[in-house]
Order: sequence, then structure tokens, then C-alpha cells
Amino acid sequence: MIFSSGIFLILLIFDGAFSTPAISKSDGKYAPTWESLDKRPLPKWYDEAKIGIFLHWGVYSVPSFGSEWFWANWKNGGKPEKEFMRQNYPPGFTYQDFAKDFTAEFFTPTDWAAIFQKSGAKYVILTSKHHEGYALWPSKYSFSWNAKDVGPNRDLVGDLAAAVHSKNLKFGLYYSLFEWFNPLYQADAKANFKTNNFVVNKIIPEMVELVQNYTPEVIWSDGDWDANDTYWKATEFLAWLYNESPVKDTVIANDRWGVAIRCQHGDFYTCADRYNPKVLQNHKWENAMTLDKVSWGYRRYNYITDIMTTAELITTLTETISCGGNILINIGPTHDGRIDLIFQERLLDLGKWLSINGKAIYKSTPWKHQNDGITDYVWYTSKNATVFAISLEWPKNNTLKLESAVELFENKRPIVTMLGNLEKLKWSINKNRISKTVRIQFPNKATVACDWAWVIQIENPTLVHVVQNSVYN
Ligand SMILES: *[C@@H]1O[C@H](CO)[C@@H](O)[C@H](O)[C@H]1NC(C)=O
Ligand SMILES: *[C@@H]1O[C@H](CO)[C@@H](O)[C@H](O)[C@H]1NC(C)=O
Ligand SMILES: *[C@@H]1O[C@H](CO)[C@@H](O)[C@H](O)[C@H]1NC(C)=O
Repeated sequence: MIFSSGIFLILLIFDGAFSTPAISKSDGKYAPTWESLDKRPLPKWYDEAKIGIFLHWGVYSVPSFGSEWFWANWKNGGKPEKEFMRQNYPPGFTYQDFAKDFTAEFFTPTDWAAIFQKSGAKYVILTSKHHEGYALWPSKYSFSWNAKDVGPNRDLVGDLAAAVHSKNLKFGLYYSLFEWFNPLYQADAKANFKTNNFVVNKIIPEMVELVQNYTPEVIWSDGDWDANDTYWKATEFLAWLYNESPVKDTVIANDRWGVAIRCQHGDFYTCADRYNPKVLQNHKWENAMTLDKVSWGYRRYNYITDIMTTAELITTLTETISCGGNILINIGPTHDGRIDLIFQERLLDLGKWLSINGKAIYKSTPWKHQNDGITDYVWYTSKNATVFAISLEWPKNNTLKLESAVELFENKRPIVTMLGNLEKLKWSINKNRISKTVRIQFPNKATVACDWAWVIQIENPTLVHVVQNSVYN
């Protein structure tokens, strides 16, 4: 009886959220087709922000062994996981038994948000639900498999959202469409996805609940790959999100909405994990990567060599921004609500670097060249009439040789400085029969505050003049 009235309620909510008359092109809104959805302009904040923090947190943070795929690996016969369970847990111990130890007693959302703010990130994306199905908020559709009912007894999504907003950062939600062991999903899969009870009764109502309760600015969908976008009702959901939802004007969604959709549709493309094409893309994209190179969820036994160095992080960031991407930097918090010191240090280092060099990153646009023609550790960004050459190494002999930037110097008088340093840098053009290069004299390293990578700012006063004229004419 309770079950059937529950279903009735769900269908009512679903029906209300998707009443199709509102979705039509004639009143200037988006139709539930990719053709229509792809016409939506990208809300400006996202491209300007450039840097986000990604958090993988869930029941897998309790065993914190292998990766966030622990449950599936264990059940599918993964040797390390089976052996770990045999050695450390009694027979009959289930994955669900881990949930009571997902305690989060040290989770202080304002402290987390302060670290994210100091890292220089402008948005934070939390796994509201990973493939295990455990909801980090009191989902009405995930009875007793959510953070309020078992584990921390707390609305982790709501608490983090409030703290992130209090630091003026944007808050977004990762959401896994599929759930490995949900019987509703398994039944649909068995029917070759000709039925979609799982999507109608669980996924769509849950995503609508998340959007209505927490007004996330990013929907980061995942776990889409078994079925197509029709099965997931992806275009209907996105049309509702863009037409009707409380975040319709500012929200953005990624591209993981079913077979063959990735890298083809969506406000921004994520394509593959750690996507970093190193060439300019013609659509907004995001490099979702993780500081623990082996795992997205926390692992208790990681080694320092598994963790990206600050230099590697800044290299990846530079390549990504130069080619028009955003970077989403993942860390896995612990089951008891801590952020491992090594991750805190990496994030604070990044913040230090950005406090000097952020001018070349935030609100920048790709320049006509990305990677320099002869010096492969130099990547470019630009902002109006200014070009930034980001040098990932300190050049030998203190002299940086550039090929792609010659046009900014020849017959011009650019003002050349290193960010964080007031000194005007000397430069000269060097021509021989086969090439032209510009040589920029770096300052004395002892006078430079910055570490890891150095930004040469090339301001062209002539172009600044032209830009201003065109603005005022
Ligand atoms: C999507 O998948 C369903 C179920 O397998 C199938 O019936 C349908 O034709 C597919 N749609 C497209 C557009 O491929
Ligand atoms: C710089 O360019 C942006 C757009 O790329 C524009 O909004 C802004 O007004 C420009 N600033 C100046 C000083 O020209
Ligand atoms: C290093 O710089 C000095 C002067 O700045 C120059 O004479 C010398 O040739 C340079 N060496 C190399 C290897 O470029």
C-alpha cells in the first residue's frame, strides 16, 4: 500500500516537472532536442572561472582501498579487493555495512570552503551520488541509502553548498545516472533498456529534487555509457533545466548523457577523464583530472609518487587554459571528513601561484598560438591587447627564445614584464636565414617571488590604443 502510493507521488512529481506544453520553441525556450539545446549560449561565468574543485566522497571513502570503484571491483572478482575483504572483514560483511563508518565527524564545511577559495578555484563540484547509489543528501528516492539515514546523519550536499556559497564560489553537483546494483536499473538493462522504470522513478525525480533544493550551477552527469540519451530522458531533463528550473539562466551541464553524446553535445565537453588535447578546441571543454593519479576517491595507502606535484598541476592547468578548457581538480576527502594534508598543500600552492599569475588565467581567452613553435614549455593565453607567455621552465642562461610571439615585437614596442615583477624586460629579435625568434631576458631569479612557472606579459600599446578607439567610436 505504502509502496504503491509512493509510486503515485513520484509519477505526479515527474509529470509536474515535465509538463511538455512549456517546452516549445515558439515562446523562445528550448525544445527537448540536441539541435535546440545546443543553441543555448554558454553562461559567461563558467569560461571566466577557469578553475574548479572536484570532490569524490561517498561510502567508498570508508574502505578507501583501490578506488571509488571498490564495490564493483570486489563484486566482479577483483583480486586485491577480494583479498582485502577476506583478510580484514568477517564473512558476510556487505558493502552496505561500510556506510555506518562513513562518519564525517571532522567535516567542517566552512574550513573546506576556505581551502577551496584559497586555492584560487571559482567553483566546487561534489559527487551527490556516485555509481554505488548512496546519496549525500536526504533523497526522497533513496530510502536508507543516503547520508541522513545512514552514516553521518547529515545533509552533506546542503551543508557544503551553504559554505561554498558563503565564500562566493559557485556550487555544482556531479550525479551518476547509473547505479551498479540498483535492481530497477538492472531490470531495465536486462530488457535492453526498452523499459525505463529506473529513469522515470529514480533518476529524473532525484535530479529534479537536487536542482530544486540546492540550485547547483553545474550539473556534472556521469555513468551514462550503457544506454542512450533517449533512455536517460536527457534532452527532456535539460530542456526543463534550461526552461523552467530555478537555475535556468546560469546553470551549465556537461556532455555525459548517453552513448555517443560525449564530446558532441552539452554546454561543455568532458570527453574522457583527464581530457587534455593540447590543441585549441572549437567548443568549451573541461579537463577533469585528479591529484591522486590512480584514484578519484581517497586511498589510505597512497604514496607520494602517486600524487601530482605542484609543477605537474600547474603544467596541466596551463596546457588546459591555453587550449580553451577549464580545469576541474579532484581530491578525495576521507570517511571522517578530512582533506589529506598533501591535497591541502597542493591546493594552497596553486593559490599562491595564482595570486601572482591569475591575471593570465581568469577571464583569459586563447591566443592565436597555444604552444610556442620552438620552446615547447611555453604556452600562451591572451586578454584584449595583452598576450601572456607562460613558461613552465626557467630558461637556460636566463634567456627565453620564442618563435610564435615574434609578430608582437617586430616593428612594435611592446612593454614586456614578468607578472609579480615591476622590471621591464629587455628583448631582441634574432633573424637568420630560416627563422626569426625573439629573445627575452629574464630578471635575476633571486628577485622573483614566484615558483613553478613564470608568466611573461607582452602588452602592445598600439593595439591597446586601437581597442580603446573601437570601443569609443
Ligand atoms: C535508444 O535505446 C533504445 C533501447 O535500446 C532503443 O529502442 C532506441 O531505438 C534507441 N534510440 C536511439 C535514437 O538510438
Ligand atoms: C577586453 O575584452 C573583453 C571581451 O573579451 C571586453 O569585455 C572588455 O571590455 C575588454 N576590455 C578592454 C579594456 O578593452
Ligand atoms: C648566455 O648569455 C650570454 C650573455 O647574455 C651569451 O654571451 C652566451 O652566448 C649565452 N649562452 C648560450 C648558451 O646561449
